[in-house]
Amino acid sequence: VSEELADGAHAAPADAATQNVAREGVLELVFGEPDPALFPAAGLARACVRALRDGGRAALPYGANAGPPELRRRLAAHIAAAEARPIAGDDVVITGGSSQALDQILTLFTDPGDVVLVEDRTYSLALGMLRERPLRVVPIPMDNDGLDVTALEGALAALAAEGARPRLLYTVATFHNPTGVCLAAERRGRLVQIAAEHDVLIVEDDVYRDLSYDRPAPASLWSLAPDVVMRLGSFSKTLAPGLRVGWLTASPERLARFAHGGLLESGGCVSQFAASATAAYLADGYYDEHLAGLRTEYRRRRDALADSLTEHLPAGCGFALPGGGFFIWVTLPPGLSGAALLPVAERHGVSFLPAAACRPHGDEPALRLAFSLYPTDVLAEGARRLGRAVGAALAGA
Ligand SMILES: Cc1ncc(COP(=O)(O)O)c(C=O)c1O
Repeated sequence: VSEELADGAHAAPADAATQNVAREGVLELVFGEPDPALFPAAGLARACVRALRDGGRAALPYGANAGPPELRRRLAAHIAAAEARPIAGDDVVITGGSSQALDQILTLFTDPGDVVLVEDRTYSLALGMLRERPLRVVPIPMDNDGLDVTALEGALAALAAEGARPRLLYTVATFHNPTGVCLAAERRGRLVQIAAEHDVLIVEDDVYRDLSYDRPAPASLWSLAPDVVMRLGSFSKTLAPGLRVGWLTASPERLARFAHGGLLESGGCVSQFAASATAAYLADGYYDEHLAGLRTEYRRRRDALADSLTEHLPAGCGFALPGGGFFIWVTLPPGLSGAALLPVAERHGVSFLPAAACRPHGDEPALRLAFSLYPTDVLAEGARRLGRAVGAALAGA
């Protein structure tokens, strides 16, 4: 999945087979999607064939609302191996990816007029889903340690004073999209405490957890407080986004509400065939090895882009090395907005996501680069082009 731009410049041709189509001559560092060259296509092909055994008796009927039991069990084992909270298959519900789960959670757990809190830079396409609903989106400041929990307390007090009802907090606490930062460990405990005190449901969008490059990802908010958190996982970044398979961990009550909402009662598991194939893929036992390979490759890409940015960005720009995920957030010299830089950059043959697309309100001199899609030499060239574009924009060219 990539990101929209305000002007729709990246709209794909009507007959495009994929969501994002790169333009001739442009290195699309805007696209926050995995590299198709890294999809385990042969393993998935074998898994699909196996999912169809016995005439597809398990994979092709309407699926159990909560998803294939085997996939739920295997996911529970994967989660238990990494997170300090006991979990069984019953504690996992299969989704159609993080996007589908978020949309469904908004349907089931919000009412018109509710306040939804988000980090003041957030996943731009989650903002799209929020804006489609009669909800009030309130941004909470964040810094290099993630969401500012003191500012959150202040915002909750201010909202209470005006009689508003903050219902839900959407957060990408780990390897944040777009900034790459992780919520600091001490803030995690405080955050779940505040949410419990104010009866605010935390929706933890955790799609990058398995893509950590320096050290294991910090404890998820769900693992700290499953009663106040619905945590969204996804195979989009680690297997393939076209599968549309993800998962949800939450309290038994919220999982039951999700699994027995109108959508799943009508259609059963939203991705029954793909989820069955994913279970067959995991049964092969190569997933951990595949993840290790992805971490090695994406770490190389992150480092290549970072090294080249250090070399080519003019003075006044800055960035921090993310510990995981797909993104480097670049700050620009004061007065140069990402939106203003974008057309100049595209003339230089490189694109990015401007900060304004990630903010509920307002703008700042910053942009997001994705290092996931291209090999290291292309990323280095992208940084070179970006450096020249920033130089040209600053010179008023
Ligand atoms: C934070 C975040 N959430 C969700 C998604 C989309 O996930 P999925 O493909 O599982 O719907 C993305 C993809 O860019 C993302 O960055």
